[in-house]
Amino acid sequence: MANLVSTWSKITQTLPENYIFPVHQRPGSTHVPLCKNIPIIDLSKSQTQTVQQIGHACQEFGFFQVINHGVSEALIDDTMKVVQDFFNLPDDEKEKLFSIDPTNRRQFPTKSCKLFTSGSDYANEDVHYWRDNLRHPCHPLDEWAHSWPEKPAEYRDIVGKYSLEVRALSLRLLELIREGLGLKPGYFGEELTRGQLMSINHYPRCPDPTLTLGLRKHVDPNLITLLSQGSVYGLQVFKDGQWLGVEPMPHAFVVNIGFQLQIISNGKLKSAEHRAVTNSREDRTTIVSFINPCPDTVIEPAKSTLDTSIPLFKPFIYKDFLKTYEQNKGDIEAMMEVYKIKP
Ligand code: OGA
Ligand code: NI
Repeated sequence: MANLVSTWSKITQTLPENYIFPVHQRPGSTHVPLCKNIPIIDLSKSQTQTVQQIGHACQEFGFFQVINHGVSEALIDDTMKVVQDFFNLPDDEKEKLFSIDPTNRRQFPTKSCKLFTSGSDYANEDVHYWRDNLRHPCHPLDEWAHSWPEKPAEYRDIVGKYSLEVRALSLRLLELIREGLGLKPGYFGEELTRGQLMSINHYPRCPDPTLTLGLRKHVDPNLITLLSQGSVYGLQVFKDGQWLGVEPMPHAFVVNIGFQLQIISNGKLKSAEHRAVTNSREDRTTIVSFINPCPDTVIEPAKSTLDTSIPLFKPFIYKDFLKTYEQNKGDIEAMMEVYKIKP
């Protein structure tokens, strides 16, 4: 169990060397400007208004926050509490789910519930991330909930309710995005949205947040991501060559356009690069729901987005893409090079 940051960091005052990032990747000061311009979309407004605002947010930023989304504040609070309680369980309880085996982590679709630390291949990483990470599939719920943590006792019930609601909200947002792109009704069907992975990040308080990262710069590989970041700051987005902090709004969801939506929209929608920084004051826990295409789904620019333009990307199979993603460590420029159609 020596590897879990939440276990050993409690008894250390210094940052171990293998958590120190190279100078060009270090956050340095974690006090970047909190961006007031990141769109906040009120889903209680008219559909015409939200379609237009979401379309603009996805083109300009690739991420936004949603409020008045219909998921109850009590459910969000209860879920945050139960996942935090999970990370505060005694070590032997967490040990039952712990793995550093990269094959466990890379299985796709994810077939089990596992607790990891750092990134996708702990043993072969140059530098480790300052985080522990619990991940499990969610959909359909009856197929997976039995594999989730047994403790805390309410975990399955609360996270089950939460995952259903967040899935429904993700599909609602995809519908608004679909309308904005002018795609045919039902475009984001089962093939593109069946997978749902819950990934819970736990970033313990850190002795030196200027030298390390909770997660390095990446774009999300999937279709769309909904993230609940509670009240503790740590998420940053890279826009126009600089890092901007995403203000914590405890009951809002941060919505992230995944790489697949960038391809499907023929580059119209942006998949934003982001990272997580740590802090020295308190632990930070985030709950991330990834909506994923089925493994064999062919991903390509949607025909109806092409009325006035030519396809910019080659078709690929989603599960093959995940290998490219891993090889390129989530670097969007490098992945674009692989799939871009060269004139
Ligand atoms: C992720 C992610 C950011 C955060 O899990 O893909 O970007 O603040 N998380 O935890
Ligand atoms: Ni991410």
